[in-house]
Amino acid sequence: MATHTHIPVLLNETLNALQVQPGGRYIDCTLGAGGHATAIMERSSPGGQLLGIDADPEAIKIARASLEAYSGSTLLINENFINLEAICFKYDFLPVHGILFDLGLSSVQLNDSSRGFSFQHDAPLDMRFSPSQEVTAADIINTFSESELAYLIKTYGEESQSHRIVRHIVNQRPIETTLQLARIIERAIGGRRGKIHPATKTFQALRIAVNHELEHLEAALKQAINLLGFEGRLVVISYHSLEDRIVKQFMQQEAKGCICPPGTPACICGHTAHLRLINKMVITPSPAEVQLNPRSRSAKLRAAERIITKDGYYKAAEKMCFSVEVKANGWRRPALLKKLRQSSNCDSVDAFSALYIR
Ligand SMILES: C[S@@+](CC[C@H](N)C(=O)[O-])C[C@H]1O[C@@H](n2cnc3c(N)ncnc32)[C@H](O)[C@@H]1O
Repeated sequence: MATHTHIPVLLNETLNALQVQPGGRYIDCTLGAGGHATAIMERSSPGGQLLGIDADPEAIKIARASLEAYSGSTLLINENFINLEAICFKYDFLPVHGILFDLGLSSVQLNDSSRGFSFQHDAPLDMRFSPSQEVTAADIINTFSESELAYLIKTYGEESQSHRIVRHIVNQRPIETTLQLARIIERAIGGRRGKIHPATKTFQALRIAVNHELEHLEAALKQAINLLGFEGRLVVISYHSLEDRIVKQFMQQEAKGCICPPGTPACICGHTAHLRLINKMVITPSPAEVQLNPRSRSAKLRAAERIITKDGYYKAAEKMCFSVEVKANGWRRPALLKKLRQSSNCDSVDAFSALYIR
């Protein structure tokens, strides 16, 4: 059974970082219970639009109920955000003013005693965000070799005692339920370390592996850049250091122009900046928020703004030409591209951007 409560994390900070404005278009790539999405719709009224994505069909059902008042201006899709760009092209939902990723799993999923995400309830070792995925946590625990499992738990769980844990796991396979696994880990490495249950890191590792979380995040961030209009905002909330490292490195890299090794006489990489960092220091919850919602304690928010340099301009323009706004303005793709190519000065970038966004 699931309880339908999830308190959105860093809510005001997220709305401010996204610069939510009336009439804006937003994508929530991790809809969950719809907490952030509802607040985005409230602040973007009148005229705001939202494309909400979640891999979990249960999350879509809950979010649909939360967003009922905005059913005419929201499009909720049960999909994995690895397909972000394709989804936006399919529904002609680009360019957008802001894209949000609030990573990991929701309290609804964690508290659902049948999903196997938590060692607080006994449940089959499942951990899939979507029932359409084939591999469960039980498949990994029971079929991976000892060395594969140890590597996975060390890498994705940052667990220093992975070898000890895995030796116990392998000796007691098959393991089918969450409590069975939690008890084996407790016996392997002892009881609680402070407030942290000894199985926490292993469960994190399994969930990341089952859902390919890090690979999907990396791929989706790259796609997000192409969907943002000029000065559109990308906001990511992460909950552990592996996710945060990916987000930080991605934003820093995309905020750089040339990335040739130091000392290279002339640029050979051709890299151009696509983003401007909004917060150089990561944003974390206040002590008051952590007290109200302990699950927020590890949250880290990073935000960046889309910039379009002259070099990246035509490429972005070509993609944006599919936009409904452009069609509504009477432009057609070939005519617009021809017009853009005729004027190669920077003013045209601004004019083009103004046509689109803000
Ligand atoms: C932390 S919750 C989001 C909560 C939401 N912001 C709210 O306020 O209710 C993360 C959600 O992202 C979804 N999710 C995680 N990885 C995903 C992926 N690769 N594609 C689509 N959804 C994903 C999970 O199913 C979960 O519902």
